[in-house]
Amino acid sequence: MALKDNIQTLLAQVNDLKANNAEELEALRIKYLSKKGEITALFNEFRSVPNEEKRELGQLLNHLRQTTESRINELREQFEQKTAEADRLDLTRTPDPIALGTRHPLSLVREEIEDIFSRIGFTIAQGPEVEDDKHVYGLLNFAPEHPARDMQDTFFVEKEIGVQKPTDVLLRSHTSSVQTHVMANQKPPIRVLCPGRVYRNEAISARAHCFFHQVEGLYIDKNVSFADLREALLYFSKEMFGPETKIRLRPSYFPFTEPSAEMDISCNICGGKGCSFCKNTGWVEILGCGMVDPNVLEACGIDSKEYSGYAFGMGVERITNLKYRVKDLRLFSENDVRFLRQFESC
Ligand code: DAH
Repeated sequence: MALKDNIQTLLAQVNDLKANNAEELEALRIKYLSKKGEITALFNEFRSVPNEEKRELGQLLNHLRQTTESRINELREQFEQKTAEADRLDLTRTPDPIALGTRHPLSLVREEIEDIFSRIGFTIAQGPEVEDDKHVYGLLNFAPEHPARDMQDTFFVEKEIGVQKPTDVLLRSHTSSVQTHVMANQKPPIRVLCPGRVYRNEAISARAHCFFHQVEGLYIDKNVSFADLREALLYFSKEMFGPETKIRLRPSYFPFTEPSAEMDISCNICGGKGCSFCKNTGWVEILGCGMVDPNVLEACGIDSKEYSGYAFGMGVERITNLKYRVKDLRLFSENDVRFLRQFESC
């Protein structure tokens, strides 16, 4: 029964025939099924088996040949399918572009402000958003009863959940607080720009939000004058809004500067002629500024007889509104991609 054993051995082999490509498959076909193949050889052997064994062995041999043929056909179909798939793919086609995000308009404008001031020697300083009264108000010469400290304006952080008593922990309501950290930690000359997020307890509307962004500037050295402040602000305004831009300073009041001013730029929409945007005045307000109050210098450990300085603070949303005409403040924090995509090329 050597023939039967041989048939069985081959049957076991062909059941898991494998080929990696059409050439390997053809080699298998030759090995088993060609004229000189192993299965053909068994058929030759079959001729000389005794008659009584012919029936059983004949069936087995046929089964072996059919199994081999169908396994080889199965493998062939797999290769053909793969080739057809490869033919359908256009490998020369450029892939779909990766969807890139866009930069937020407030980041674009903040970076532009940083860039403009860095060209005249300002470096960036950061401070905490969760602050204490001392750094946000006390050192900045706010009188104890100043209304800015009121709960109506300032978010206080409750020490115990549910206990709504003013505490000493609060969210900064302006980036002027960064000044106090810088002055306490650095010796003049100081020339820093402090960008950051600020919080105020306001009802959210198109024109007000409970958080927004400011950029504070501080320059302290010997003999810093109001004329230096004006020069720096004129330079900034021309860089930001174009070389035709004019500025004007109006007297104002801030506890931490003396004298204090608010600065307007000539309306960049009508060029100063008067339009609905500037309420026909030709001017739009963009920032507050002044000479650092000697009380503030002293409170932060800087000798006010030796040093003087100027400070200014502006709202990033306000500047963005002037540059890109975003009428509703809420758009800045809604993350609506239809809004954000409009800044793709900026
Ligand atoms: N801190 C002021 C505000 O939030 C802005 C400001 C005004 C900053 C005058 C200054 C300044 O440094 O000199 O409204």
